[in-house]
This record gives sequence, structure tokens and C-alpha cells, in this order.
Amino acid sequence: MSFCVAIDGPAAAGKGTVSKAVAKHFGFPHLDTGLLYRATGAKTFEGLTPLDAALSLTTSDLERDDLRSGDAGQAASRVAAIPEVRSALVDFQQAFARRDGGAVLDGRDIGTVICPDAEVKLYITASDEVRALRRYAELIGKGEHVTKEGVSADLRERDERDSARAAAPLKPADDATVIDTSSMTIDEAIAKVIALIEAVRG
Ligand code: DC
Repeated sequence: MSFCVAIDGPAAAGKGTVSKAVAKHFGFPHLDTGLLYRATGAKTFEGLTPLDAALSLTTSDLERDDLRSGDAGQAASRVAAIPEVRSALVDFQQAFARRDGGAVLDGRDIGTVICPDAEVKLYITASDEVRALRRYAELIGKGEHVTKEGVSADLRERDERDSARAAAPLKPADDATVIDTSSMTIDEAIAKVIALIEAVRG
């Protein structure tokens, strides 16, 4: 039996960390769908068209070291606005979502497009300021040379593009539970999500 936990939200809201921890708690596999778009974007740096990049994605493309960089994030957001690129990635995500035993997927359109009948739908968000600070700390921790202003502008640009696009824009599903993590610790956010899932699973 499948059990899909769909977690959407804007960049740096904490959904990746929460998704990983929650998947571990329930023993579900986790798919960070942003990685699919980041890997597609990164392949365009080598001259592939976005569609060819998406169609030729392999597991080793998802293991590249540079996928977490700001440039890969921007490239991801740009290729993600192309409907054909999104279509090319749908089957893989839907098969993952409906695996036997359950799955956690995080992204922008999981509850709206990939898994509209997900058993649990969450939209994890946080204020612009908190998200910019979290991403800044993450990138500095990785040794990237960034400024708070630069990170903040980068997130704003990406969120605007992700929300304004015609194909599967970033927005909460009508039946999603919205969780604002601005004033929560990561452990509080994880505990809240675990409780919400347990309430559904019974
Ligand atoms: O979650 P992330 O920051 O790794 O995502 C990178 C970009 O990929 C994001 O700006 C928008 C796009 N994306 C998307 O359009 N749909 C998804 N399900 C996941 C990510």
C-alpha cells in the first residue's frame, strides 16, 4: 500500500530538512524533487538544451557536488518554468510517490500536480527574512562567498519566478496544511509534521 506525504513550499523554508527527518522517522524513502531541476539546470551549463538535459537525467547527475550552489538554484528555477521539462520529470516522481510502503516528496508542485491525492499535504513556509538568513548560513557553512543581500535577492527572484510561472506554479494546494516555521526550531517543525502524519495514519 502506498502513502504519499507531499511537502511543498518556497526556497529555504526548512522543507528539505523536515522532509528528510520525517522520512527517516517513518522509514519512508525521500525524494528531494528540487534536485531533479537542479541537475537539469546544471546540465545546461554544458550546452545541453533544458529538455535534452531533463530527458537524459541519470542517478549520477543527481550526485553532482555543485547542485546546492546559488547558480544551480537559479538554473533550476529557469528550467522549471518550461512545461516540457516538467512533463519529462512527472513519471519518475509519480512512480516514487506511489511506491509500496510510503514516500515523502518535497518540492513546489507535489500536492498540486504530482500527487494531488496525497494522503498528507503540507505547505512549509517562513518569512522572507528568516528564509534568507537560513540559506545564507547554509551557503557560508559550505564555504561559498555570498552576502546576506545577495542571498536575499536570489531567493526573491527565484520565488517570484516559481510563483508567477504558468506551469505548476508554487502555491499551497487548497487542502494543504500550511506550517509557518519562522519562529519554530527545526525540531519543533519536525515534531509538528510527525504528529500531523500520525493523525492521518491512525
Ligand atoms: O527546492 P530547491 O530550492 O532545490 O528547488 C530548486 C528550483 O527547482 C526551484 O527554484 C524551483 C524548482 N522546483 C520546481 O519547480 N518544482 C519542484 N517540485 C521542485 C523544485
